[in-house]
Amino acid sequence: MELNLKNKVVVVTGASRGIGLAIARAFAQEGARVVAGARTPGEALGELAKDYDVVPVTVDLATAEGAVQIVEAATAYGPVDVLVNNVGAVTPRLGGIAAVTDEEWVATLNINLLSAIRTTRAALPGLIATEGAIVNIGSVNSILPDPSVVDYAVAKAGLASYAKSLSKEVTPQGVRVNTISPGPVETDMWLGSGGLAETIGEAMGVSLEQAVAAVVEGLGGFATGRFTRPEEVADLALFLASERSGNITGADFTIDGGLIKTI
Ligand SMILES: NC(=O)c1ccc[n+]([C@@H]2O[C@H](COP(=O)([O-])OP(=O)(O)OC[C@H]3O[C@@H](n4cnc5c(N)ncnc54)[C@H](OP(=O)(O)O)[C@@H]3O)[C@@H](O)[C@H]2O)c1
Repeated sequence: MELNLKNKVVVVTGASRGIGLAIARAFAQEGARVVAGARTPGEALGELAKDYDVVPVTVDLATAEGAVQIVEAATAYGPVDVLVNNVGAVTPRLGGIAAVTDEEWVATLNINLLSAIRTTRAALPGLIATEGAIVNIGSVNSILPDPSVVDYAVAKAGLASYAKSLSKEVTPQGVRVNTISPGPVETDMWLGSGGLAETIGEAMGVSLEQAVAAVVEGLGGFATGRFTRPEEVADLALFLASERSGNITGADFTIDGGLIKTI
């Protein structure tokens, strides 16, 4: 399928590993110019930049300045055609909802919600000029509230609502806004050191594998029997950013292997 993404200026936040890295790679392979931000861009993005038109940017996207900084880095190549608000982070809250402090709430809202709001604000003039597209990476937790990730689920629900409001305002100006809501994906957020599985496993006194099995089983299991791969999220992001999805806006796509059982 021809996506016509060649030479497009694409911003990907949180792009040094996991889903963001897979998205940066997928756009780069389509011939786009990818401006890829993280606090530590690291080796994988560096390798990608040797072969493709990829510009790693060192940036803290939990700050207001960081959002402006990454968009400015992209605008050096032209107005932004595609913004992928991917950055996010989750900390398991195993001590009960009342134990989550103000500081923890603010940090979670900053990186999962305000970061996307700020980066969008900075990129919007360019996106309107190019009649571009925004793809937000949400989560099934936006419709699956859970005390163990209470602040993250609230932030992702907010992101989904923000995306819908934004689509109503800016799509008449040519900018499409869509959300991808993954279930568990094979990245460090779930499976890495200090990730969800390890933390939950330690609290339960079981191995990482047993913790994954317990959480997935508790949610009713995957119909496909497996986690989503980062590349599968990236393929959907490519489609939603391309003109092939030209009449899709304000939509939210679940990619979870059938984990969510309701319609
Ligand atoms: N993995 C899942 O199961 C899953 C499921 C549903 C939704 N999601 C969502 O998908 C997105 C990506 O998740 P992932 O699993 O790929 O996460 P990940 O593996 O933990 O990667 C997070 C990325 O964000 C960057 N990052 C974190 N904090 C940052 C900050 N303050 N400033 C700049 N960059 C920052 C990290 O790089 P640095 O550390 O170098 O900054 C890294 O590149 C998130 O929005 C997440 O909520 C993930």
